[in-house]
Amino acid sequence: MCSTAVSPARLIGKIGSLVMVTGGGFGAFSAISIYNEDEKFYDNIFMPLVQRLDPETSHNFAVFACKYKLFPKSKFQDPESLNTKVLNLSFDNPIGIAAGFDKQAEAAQSLRNIGFGFVEIGSVTPLPQSGQKKPRLFRLSENEALINRMGFNSDGHEVVLQRLVSLRQSENGKNLTLGVNLGKNKTSEDAVTDYCKGIELFSDVADYLVVNISSPNTAGLRDLQEEKQLKNLLSTLVRVRNNLPPERRKPLFVKISPDLSVEQRKQIADVVLDKLCKVDGLICSNTTTARPSELEGPHTQEAGGLSGRPLKNPSNELISDMYKLTQGAIPIIGVGGVSSGLDAYNKILSGASLVQIYTTFAFHGPPRVTRIKRELDEHLRMNGWSSVSDAVGKGVTR
Ligand SMILES: Cc1cc2nc3c(=O)[nH]c(=O)nc-3n(C[C@H](O)[C@H](O)[C@H](O)COP(=O)(O)O)c2cc1C
Repeated sequence: MCSTAVSPARLIGKIGSLVMVTGGGFGAFSAISIYNEDEKFYDNIFMPLVQRLDPETSHNFAVFACKYKLFPKSKFQDPESLNTKVLNLSFDNPIGIAAGFDKQAEAAQSLRNIGFGFVEIGSVTPLPQSGQKKPRLFRLSENEALINRMGFNSDGHEVVLQRLVSLRQSENGKNLTLGVNLGKNKTSEDAVTDYCKGIELFSDVADYLVVNISSPNTAGLRDLQEEKQLKNLLSTLVRVRNNLPPERRKPLFVKISPDLSVEQRKQIADVVLDKLCKVDGLICSNTTTARPSELEGPHTQEAGGLSGRPLKNPSNELISDMYKLTQGAIPIIGVGGVSSGLDAYNKILSGASLVQIYTTFAFHGPPRVTRIKRELDEHLRMNGWSSVSDAVGKGVTR
């Protein structure tokens, strides 16, 4: 009699083949979708899978993917309307990756390939430090927001500097517009010296430097925004920068908090315009310690800084306040809750000359950068602006 039963060994072999064909098919489909920057693939398949990992592991995976150039170069050509110049620096487009994504300067080249117009690395502290204990990063998916209390986990100045020196020696690294965001060590009792060291060390490799005095996760850091401390800090930093040889004198930005009172905003505007303390720009804003009532999910009361969609309006208000208070005398980099071209456009109308993103990139991946740029170009043209700089501050009533 002829039996139709399949032996166990053959069955396992068949299942193995099926798994290989299906797995190979899915692998090929994924590779093609990633190559084509397929937004639907990212939003419906890839990012939900990545978000099954805990947030810090997902973040490390993204940095790893950038470090080993697993994301292809974007095929989107930046339209002329997005080409812009700020402080004599040229940008193909005004959308940058905010500090905190590439803290250790491992991913900059890949971020440029994904389509960012500039990359800000850091915050970097003088000595290496591990930051706060884990878990320290939380997703608020319903709000498309994050709460982080990373606490400046940093490989330290020396290691990060070496990476940037190598990057600058490579052919592609030369054409990258790069900011270095400076922090202070948790145990340092002399913040001024920590920032001075950063300025002296990174001024060869950075296109601009950021004095970050607004992260909520280092005790006392935000007090540096108080008038007296700010004057003392900035007058020293400006002097140190001005004493460098001309080719090493890089623009200095100060990154401020969205939680500042009206009075503090006025004082900061006065200080940063003062002759002795005059920095070249502001970054508005860092994360907020506020917990708006719209927040949902189990992590709303975690300590740390809130970023993403709920930060959009507070950050826009800070941008327009600082634009008005400084009378547009220094450029502002607008950051906080941008997830569309319209959001970026509104930041520009509020007074931002450049825009950065972080949280939306963590939720949507590389295609979001292209979408923001495409939509921003549309909004500029629809409203009759031929360039980003034409639209800066045009939504602000003086
Ligand atoms: C996980 C994480 C780490 C961050 N680390 C830093 C940092 O080291 N230095 C800094 O200036 N800002 C840091 N930020 C703040 C971002 O640069 C940005 O100001 C903020 O997230 C608002 O932008 P977004 O709403 O687009 O995320 C961090 C943000 C996140 C989410």
